[in-house]
Amino acid sequence: MAIIRTAARLGAELFDTADSYGADDKDFGYVEKLLHEALRGGAEGRGGEEEQRGGRQERGGERREACVATKGGMLRVSREANGWRPSRCDREYLLTRMRSSWENLGGRDPVFLWQLHHPNEKESPIEEAMQAAKTAQERGWVRHVGLCNVTLDQLKRARRVVEVAAVQCELNYWTRKAEKQGILDYCRDNGIAFIAFGALGGLKHLASSFPALKYMADRKGFSCEATALASMRHLWPHLIHIPGARTEEHVQDIARGREVRFTAAELDELRRMKPSR
Ligand SMILES: NC(=O)c1ccc[n+]([C@@H]2O[C@H](COP(=O)([O-])OP(=O)(O)OC[C@H]3O[C@@H](n4cnc5c(N)ncnc54)[C@H](OP(=O)(O)O)[C@@H]3O)[C@@H](O)[C@H]2O)c1
Repeated sequence: MAIIRTAARLGAELFDTADSYGADDKDFGYVEKLLHEALRGGAEGRGGEEEQRGGRQERGGERREACVATKGGMLRVSREANGWRPSRCDREYLLTRMRSSWENLGGRDPVFLWQLHHPNEKESPIEEAMQAAKTAQERGWVRHVGLCNVTLDQLKRARRVVEVAAVQCELNYWTRKAEKQGILDYCRDNGIAFIAFGALGGLKHLASSFPALKYMADRKGFSCEATALASMRHLWPHLIHIPGARTEEHVQDIARGREVRFTAAELDELRRMKPSR
């Protein structure tokens, strides 16, 4: 909770979660409830004024509340990385999940952004999932609709059913599938936010994979991670980051990274770099 509040105070505007983030399939909604409590001051009102401000930040004199994005459709069987099951994307199941997410996030305002976690077209066409999301919008549970892990074709088909506000795919210096498949450009050209997950490569190690990035970061006096995030924002200005950080130190480091500046030649070098291992 303290780390979530620190991130909000330092300017994080979007917190990304999923109904399935938690220990296992009995823990659905755990992180949604935690985020709601951290950002809004807690169900028991135990925060007092200082805690109530947890989810707000000052930007140029303007006070803004941090938004929560969540996802639904993925199933979980254990804590293990391979404990995920193919998602359920049928209308009935998704409507139940969207209603639960809305309740977990306060049950008053619609969920700021609800995303389909992973299409599973062997079982249900993406159109069915999007029809469900549209119904959830009409019922006031969801404000904006997004999609994760989609192909360009699935994105185009989804947009015929509902307005798609955001697409979330993996994008980092190792994996640029979303760029190669044209999803990044398509989002930019159609006013759709592109949310990059795994921007730091998850458990991979930036400094040892990209010596040029490490050298540049050292010269500028920032960490490799902060430099990587900042450079990606310069390379793709419509990109939104959701770096995963579990320590105050990492959150502060990421926030400080907003100050990193690049020359055009440096950005070009980063755009072309390949992992050394
Ligand atoms: N849509 C999807 O299917 C999907 C899939 C995966 C992830 N996601 C979303 O994307 C988010 C981020 O993804 P991710 O956590 O897998 O990958 P990530 O952001 O690429 O990497 C997270 C790792 O980077 C470390 N880190 C963060 N800040 C750092 C810093 N300043 N210096 C050094 N290390 C730092 C973290 O360490 P600590 O934990 O120790 O701070 C953690 O090990 C998730 O939380 C989730 O919301 C979505």
